[in-house]
Amino acid sequence: MSIIFIEESKTFHLYNDEISYIMNILPNGHIGQLYFGKKISPKKDYSWLLEMVPRSMASYVFENDRTLSLEHIKQEYGVYGSSDYRFPAVEILQENGSRISDFHYCSHRITPGKPELIGLPATYVEEEEEAETLTLILKDSVTGIELNLFYTLFSRRGIIARSARFSNEGPHPVHLLKAMSLCMDLPDSNYDWIQFSGAWSRERHPKMRHIEQGIQSIGSMRGNSSHEHNPFLILKRPSADEFQGEAIGFSLIYSGNFLAQAEVDTYDTTRVLMGIHPEWFDWKLDPNTFFQTPEAVMVYTDRGLNDLSQTFHRLYQKRLARGYWRDKARPILINNWEATYFDFTEKEILRLAETAAKSGIELFVLDDGWFGTRVSEHSGLGDWRPNADRLPYGIASLAKKIEQLGMKFGLWFEPEMVNKDSDLYRTHPDWLLSVPGRTQSHGRHQYVLDFSRGEVVDAIYRMMADILKCGHISYVKWDMNRSITECYSAALPADRQGEVFHRYILGVYRLYEQLNQTFPEILFESCASGGGRFDPGLLYYAPQGWTSDDTDAIERLKIQYGTSFCYPVSSMGAHVSASPNHQLGRSTPLATRADVACFGTSGYELDLNTLSSDELNSVHNHVTFMKTWRELLQFGTFYRLQSPFEGNTAAWMTVSDDRSQALVGWYRILNTVNPPYTRLKLYGLDPGRLYLVSIKDHFGQRELGRFFGDELMNAGIPTSDDNSGDAPKKERSDYDFQSRIYILQ
Ligand code: DGJ
Repeated sequence: MSIIFIEESKTFHLYNDEISYIMNILPNGHIGQLYFGKKISPKKDYSWLLEMVPRSMASYVFENDRTLSLEHIKQEYGVYGSSDYRFPAVEILQENGSRISDFHYCSHRITPGKPELIGLPATYVEEEEEAETLTLILKDSVTGIELNLFYTLFSRRGIIARSARFSNEGPHPVHLLKAMSLCMDLPDSNYDWIQFSGAWSRERHPKMRHIEQGIQSIGSMRGNSSHEHNPFLILKRPSADEFQGEAIGFSLIYSGNFLAQAEVDTYDTTRVLMGIHPEWFDWKLDPNTFFQTPEAVMVYTDRGLNDLSQTFHRLYQKRLARGYWRDKARPILINNWEATYFDFTEKEILRLAETAAKSGIELFVLDDGWFGTRVSEHSGLGDWRPNADRLPYGIASLAKKIEQLGMKFGLWFEPEMVNKDSDLYRTHPDWLLSVPGRTQSHGRHQYVLDFSRGEVVDAIYRMMADILKCGHISYVKWDMNRSITECYSAALPADRQGEVFHRYILGVYRLYEQLNQTFPEILFESCASGGGRFDPGLLYYAPQGWTSDDTDAIERLKIQYGTSFCYPVSSMGAHVSASPNHQLGRSTPLATRADVACFGTSGYELDLNTLSSDELNSVHNHVTFMKTWRELLQFGTFYRLQSPFEGNTAAWMTVSDDRSQALVGWYRILNTVNPPYTRLKLYGLDPGRLYLVSIKDHFGQRELGRFFGDELMNAGIPTSDDNSGDAPKKERSDYDFQSRIYILQ
């Protein structure tokens, strides 16, 4: 790994064994983008990549010179209005009304390791040798604003982390109206764009299209990163697939409003922008203050989408997630939400816990409804003390009783929200985000607290810490069940209202950080009505997240498959729930529900006391299976094999680091009569190693035989079905929605 500056050609070359990232200082002092892709040999000059060809109808920077038109130059952090007409990375409103800026290179620093981003989640290193950082220092001489562009090159894999910091060293305040984390011009537009989009209970479905001249974008203006679009984007060559070909992934480590955009211009170059959504963003930058953008991570591969995903998985598992739980296999939990919803007593909770403990489950999570007057969606949010009618002996006492059963205890919170029917609201009606004199829109009968205010965050921290400090709470589920409306803070002046969305997220991060610091061994799971804030920002504080409120196993195949393009299995909360499923009404076999949920941080979310003894036996077996295999399931190298979006079957697998073990999940959606012969080719195995392959399905577990890794990867495992049209004679009724786990040892 190396970052070099070649003085003669004013070129920066960042490279490791995988990638090269090359920039230079343009004749006008701006930064040009020369190359990002597979590693190329270090050399003195790559200026031929600039292509400064005189063109008609262009605007030029220098008088009597038709070479430098910013519109025609591939750049690093483009500005608008001084010969570039594409969407820019930055927009600064100045005292005289001008929005033109002109950032010139002043100097640079190359430092080992990676600096922290104060107040923001970011990737990190543990040893300085893991990365090297280039800081480009630019200045706009008219406003006096200094711009630092940070590039961290990781020593292994094709990873570059980027962010920008604006420091006002001038005499006047300015308004930052746009400050993207990443801007990069690619030399052509031969890319397919893949976004991960959907809705509540239908999150992160991959959607692909070829990019064309014009703008394609995704984003969120809801205050949370959203169910609708994830802050992640892939540009891949049309010929690339899961196993080969070029692709670049762009991921934003942020949980609020975001924009990810690709603009293909008239010459078929592509400008990628990623960062805080500029709509509704207006940050007043006073003299002697700075603004730090969130971090964006770019990953390049020429080995296909699985390789791209595996790079993100490793990075986010090991160098974004932090703390006590980062590397630990996660406890198998039971959550009472779909078992009881709001309707429970301590006695019923303990009855459920007893059965869970007997099944080998390790953690009991008490969900919504344990606090204040919360017996429905209408009241209690904000009053974080136990409901004395339901829990007459308090939380610590319940937690101890659950510990006596041999399980840990976890608790649900929704820290950012308040019901109007709550003591918190009655005492502090001005703590809502709301515009004076206007309607306050509610969502699920609740309102959003103004987390841009320090005293609000502090008050919630005190209430939560009071509960958590009893010492018997091992896990917290942090929920967030509505997006922001009427984004206005009573505590900020008129000219700072454009800061509220971002300050809100900074408040969320501060509360998470304080709780992480005070309670380092508590496992946090993020949630926002399921996957409404399943983003890298929260992974920094909570190493796992509730992937979706849709717990139907077949829907989950799609959601977990889509989520896996960026996020590791260790981050995906996945539970076995009741059948018929509560969201969809679909009935699926218990084994299939378990076989999908085990590719996640697995748990249960149903009333175990309604199951038959056979079913409880299956639960026990699944829990035992999970305990045996969870390190591999959660931390192995994950491969997508067959897409549930493309056919009647889906498959994925995980391989241990030493390639001695692997687990394959195979799922068939609908039964078919007299089906064709099929085989599943495996990946990532040791070609010369002999694997003992067993199959676990509805008939139980049995050995299939011994096969070499290269047999399994090149010839594949036969997955053909045996239904030749006599299915009803087999005395089973669960032919649809079948699954198998192949165990390779
Ligand atoms: C939404 C979450 O996604 C559910 O799991 C549950 O915690 C409810 N909120 C509780 O209100």
